Amino acid sequence: MALSLPAAGYFRPASRYRRFAVAADNVDASRAGYEVLRGGGNAVDAAVATVLALGVTSPSSSGFGGGGFATVCTPQGECTFVDFRETAPAAITLELLHNAPDPAHASKVGALAVGVPGEPAGLLHLSRRFGRAPFARLVAPAVRLAGAGFAVSPWLSARVGENARNLAGDPLLSRIWTPSGTPVAAHARVTRPLLAAALRRYGAEGDRFVRGPLATAIEATMRSGHGAMTARDVIDYAPRERAPLRVTFRDHTVVTAPYPSAGGLLVAETLALVGDTPVDTAPPGSSAWDHLLTESWRGAFDDRARYVGDPENAGVVPPASLLDAARMARRRARIDPAHATPVAVDEPAHDHGTTHLCVVDADGMMVSLTTTVNDPFGARITVPTMDIVLNDEIDDFSLGAGSSYGLAASRPNALTPGRRPVSSMSPTIVLANGRPVGCVGASGGPRIATTTAQVLLNLLRHGMDPESAVSAPRIHHQGAPDELRVEREVPEDVRAALRARGHTVVQTDALAVSQVIWVQGEGASRAVLAASDPRKDGLPAGE
Ligand code: DON
Repeated sequence: MALSLPAAGYFRPASRYRRFAVAADNVDASRAGYEVLRGGGNAVDAAVATVLALGVTSPSSSGFGGGGFATVCTPQGECTFVDFRETAPAAITLELLHNAPDPAHASKVGALAVGVPGEPAGLLHLSRRFGRAPFARLVAPAVRLAGAGFAVSPWLSARVGENARNLAGDPLLSRIWTPSGTPVAAHARVTRPLLAAALRRYGAEGDRFVRGPLATAIEATMRSGHGAMTARDVIDYAPRERAPLRVTFRDHTVVTAPYPSAGGLLVAETLALVGDTPVDTAPPGSSAWDHLLTESWRGAFDDRARYVGDPENAGVVPPASLLDAARMARRRARIDPAHATPVAVDEPAHDHGTTHLCVVDADGMMVSLTTTVNDPFGARITVPTMDIVLNDEIDDFSLGAGSSYGLAASRPNALTPGRRPVSSMSPTIVLANGRPVGCVGASGGPRIATTTAQVLLNLLRHGMDPESAVSAPRIHHQGAPDELRVEREVPEDVRAALRARGHTVVQTDALAVSQVIWVQGEGASRAVLAASDPRKDGLPAGE
């Protein structure tokens, strides 16, 4: 079936629109959301359509077998956080992981790594609670992309190339992504008919499909791979609505992710600790500013390891206590502008999964949504009858040595049946005068949180436009290992000045991928500025 979109006007490389926009990290997905907005859907409808399209065209990052978070704000500034993150299956135990044939990788590859997917029920929940278009219409662009085919993005082709060996264990993954033994090339056309059929049924039957055929097919996959998940886990899965974390920064309200994300906490601590430092003493891109950011993040990652978990777990300390003004003031006073404070070392993993998108509609409703299968192609197994890539989110629990992204061990984030692992995903919305004006977020493991904080400060502290805010060089520090990662574009004099303060500076590949939407003005002077990070190959769409 051919795309039934107008040939021009719906997509342009310039990121300035007037009415509405979608910024995803894949252009086919931005177009899917655009199509829904143009057909009268609202921002949530468009976000759902964009996510479903991403699962088709960018399966190394996210999809039906994964889960995520969405921050949704109405035009009047009423905000809700929808948590559709994966949960640990009822029967999972550390012993099962330790006794697996390859215990070192059991939380990352294969059936035991898979958390109960949240995306199928989560998208239905988003649509029912906040959308206005019929659900089948939101699924239609994804069905079309999967059935009629799409051009493989350079990003996806590169991820397949890097992971080709890992994909070989799953017959369907290797058949689709490494046909005749070589990674699928950029711009090659791929169809996913099994996924198209599954999505079509999902669009028509909704919950009945999720709790029926999908649950049964996941259980069969788990049984043949000796996993712990059952159909009952999928049937019992429920997305949660949570109050988002809200902090005031200057004349804006920043609405961001609560637990089980630790990302919102880091964003809030960064704003509280260093956001108000005068710009002339620490301009953007200077070693003074990079140093302050780094020092603020050490504490936030330490808090994460000690206090953050699924809010339904015992032993979790609420963010309000951690963000207490006196506590933040004590921490601020301890930041030494001239010296770094080292912590313990543990090597982080590379990260190339996950996707973040922003949508605003013509009424001003805004969605900031991040979703993931965790590592590239998740657990590297599929539901074979439906071409659904299953996540490896069990690796986001604190599992002792070698646990996810080299983060410090965390007691409140211990593997617990039915619980959600701590995440860095930080879908954030900025309100001005009580109305949504900005959407920010990122993909990239723990770098999500530090990137979201930097992009927010680029917008709010440095007054950058969205394009510059996502493009500017970034840095990352996560407490452990005690390394300050800097992108190639961070100049040598800045690195030298950071070394002189005592930081171990390590050059790194691109740090995370961020999408932003910013709305300026109202009525006839309204401008919607949308930016997809140049580090991945997405582009926004809008009009
Ligand atoms: O929830 C989290 O923090 C991780 N599962 C996110 C993984 C990720 O972003 C992978 N890389 N881009």
